[in-house]
Amino acid sequence: MNDTFLKACRGEKTDYTPVWLMRQAGRYLPEYQALREKYDFMTLCKTPELAAEVTLQPVRRLNVDAAILFSDILIPLEPMGIKIEFPEKGGPVLNPPEDITKLKKIKPKKDVSFVLETIKILVKELDIPLIGFSGAPFTLLTYIVEQRSSKNFLKTKRLMYEDSEKFHRIMELLSETVRDYLLSQIEAGVQAVQLFDTWAGILTPRDFKEYVLPYVKKIITDLKGNVPVIYFVLNGGTFLEFIKESGADVIGVDWRIDLGTAIDRLKDGVAVQGNLDPCELFLPEERLFERITDIVRKGMRSSIKGHIFNLGHGILPETPVEKARFLIDSVHEISARLKSAKIN
Ligand code: CP3
Repeated sequence: MNDTFLKACRGEKTDYTPVWLMRQAGRYLPEYQALREKYDFMTLCKTPELAAEVTLQPVRRLNVDAAILFSDILIPLEPMGIKIEFPEKGGPVLNPPEDITKLKKIKPKKDVSFVLETIKILVKELDIPLIGFSGAPFTLLTYIVEQRSSKNFLKTKRLMYEDSEKFHRIMELLSETVRDYLLSQIEAGVQAVQLFDTWAGILTPRDFKEYVLPYVKKIITDLKGNVPVIYFVLNGGTFLEFIKESGADVIGVDWRIDLGTAIDRLKDGVAVQGNLDPCELFLPEERLFERITDIVRKGMRSSIKGHIFNLGHGILPETPVEKARFLIDSVHEISARLKSAKIN
């Protein structure tokens, strides 16, 4: 088992910087497109053999140091009582009940057994760690309240400000669901988990602290002692100090903040994950190599516990596969060279 990724999460020394890519299984891969011609997205997620196959596709192609379970953050919302559609264009659409306080907590073994089956297949196949994941409660709440992606998230913020009792009740319910869902994934065999908080970055720092942080903190406390927890907040660069208070082992950062600045602000005690702009994969190789080198170097600063290289958000469907390969190979090559130079 290649455990470089887990070592970096725990802050142990590694010979090189481990790397994986958010959305590494997906539409930029021709073999994924080929499966999608035969099956819709939900069928891929709900059929363990297919979900396992899609998880393995990028592992075969790229020399990544971790695999991430193929699923979607919206999957556990269905058994809570929300109808979900993934139309071919335009992002997911949700149909929650009129009274969203009536949503049910899920029982993972009964309600999402296909996810746990997928994990069991994968841990037998993989010789790198498998990352499980969940949407964080606030991001899930925004999908429920807005029913699709939104521009200014006014419905979510009005619920927060005008009926905060109801907001907190739903956050509580979602937090318990997220915790139980992640615990079931850990029991099935994932070796790390990532909480995706894609939309928490729309909040002011003080609202993040008041309305989101206590729930994430509680989830992470309940998971502690199991496996490393990565907490990724898209657009979270303005309140990294609060994000750190979540207690996560690894803080994921997007590209809007310089990695060196992020590391200075996080201070000690955590590892960091990130943060190449997914669009930078369209740079010519020479310039891309410079950007990668800069991030690898900054990630090696002694003040930070560890660095896992990643993109600042998901890889784009238009990305040439060769560029993804170039990225992974470059991270390995640059970091191995710099680390051995440091020792000798
Ligand atoms: O990272 C991985 O490779 C694992 C799989 C994964 C997917 N979605 C597959 C997917 C993960 C971890 C996610 C998380 C997810 N899903 C997030 C959080 C991370 C992020 O990207 O911010 C969010 C917000 C979603 C919700 C979602 N799912 C949206 C907005 C969309 C449509 C937009 C898009 O990129 O197509 C999806 C669909 C989706 N999830 C696809 C994939 C591969 C595309 C489905 C297809 O058409 O084949």
